[in-house]
Amino acid sequence: MKKIRWGILGCGRIARKFASDLRLVNDAELIALGARELSTAQIFSKDFPAKYVHGSYEALVNNPEVDVIYIATPHGLHHEHVLLCLKHKKAVLCEKAFALNYKQASEMIAFAKTQGVFLMEAFWTRFLPHYVKAKQLIADGKVGQVEYFYGEFGFKPAHPVAPRLYDPALGGGALLDIGVYPVFMALDFLGKPDQIDAAMTPAHTGVDEQCAIRFRYKNGALANLFCTLASNLASGGDIGGTEGRIRFTHRMHGPTTQVEYYPGPVDTREIIPFEKAKGNGYEYEIRHVNECLQNNLKESPVLTHELTLLLMQTLDAIRAKAGIRYAVD
Ligand SMILES: NC(=O)c1ccc[n+]([C@@H]2O[C@H](COP(=O)([O-])OP(=O)(O)OC[C@H]3O[C@@H](n4cnc5c(N)ncnc54)[C@H](OP(=O)(O)O)[C@@H]3O)[C@@H](O)[C@H]2O)c1
Repeated sequence: MKKIRWGILGCGRIARKFASDLRLVNDAELIALGARELSTAQIFSKDFPAKYVHGSYEALVNNPEVDVIYIATPHGLHHEHVLLCLKHKKAVLCEKAFALNYKQASEMIAFAKTQGVFLMEAFWTRFLPHYVKAKQLIADGKVGQVEYFYGEFGFKPAHPVAPRLYDPALGGGALLDIGVYPVFMALDFLGKPDQIDAAMTPAHTGVDEQCAIRFRYKNGALANLFCTLASNLASGGDIGGTEGRIRFTHRMHGPTTQVEYYPGPVDTREIIPFEKAKGNGYEYEIRHVNECLQNNLKESPVLTHELTLLLMQTLDAIRAKAGIRYAVD
């Protein structure tokens, strides 16, 4: 099997975790790094060596040996950076939030189709073993009809606080940074809501410090979602159904959570076993992208363009209700 040669665009915090997990994937090779300053890429390459170390994103996308680029810049720049990669016919895995709004996301996806190039949102949670297990329990009818989802994600950024978290130009705010997880899960477990309500607390820059969201469905199902940059929360989740309940105990978006299944009253709890990640958890999405590229796919059959667009459309609707605006809207 041929090696898929990866490039990383933006050598920041998440790029380090991703580069570390690339080592766990047999048919993946980190071949090139791209940073705005050569020195940043050089420092990164001391821990994660690559054949090519570029001092600009343009040099990276012009490297003929790169098959696929992982975009790890702030979400306010994803539109620009995805279009840059696609223009040079590079396959792309783009971090969440995929874009600032639906309009940007649909332009990115339309351009990938025009160019005939693979593009996927890096929604790593969808590929994690615990999440796949939970989806299987639902598909097997273990919770019956899903009636309710509660999901939260909250953390208080440690100092020094990454400026992107509060910068409106970079897509700052709790919703696009961490609220995307409970929103994604509600969409995945319950589908597109019929009605959305939302409220937010503004931070000093005007972006949302916290955001509370409610989804209502015509069949009576409800979702209550919450995200905050003001408190450290358990960041768990609960799926309630007519026949049972699934609980993610903490950090439900990541591989260290625990999945509990309650077929009946609260003392009937079963702990659901699942494969523990060897790395940070990004290896699963990397393997999936590699498999797509080995099979010459232009779109993931799991994290589809349709799902990414539904997520962006829903985030737009939440922002409209809560009063969260970006200059590009
Ligand atoms: N999947 C996950 O678990 C996860 C976790 C954290 C973050 N993320 C996502 O990954 C993205 C990056 O987050 P991060 O925490 O890694 O951010 P970060 O540490 O601030 O890194 C972002 C990188 O983007 C590049 N960049 C280009 N233009 C920039 C600008 N104007 N301002 C700041 N940085 C700029 C910089 O790299 P160079 O200087 O090397 O060019 C910078 O190091 C975000 O979209 C975030 O939502 C995902």
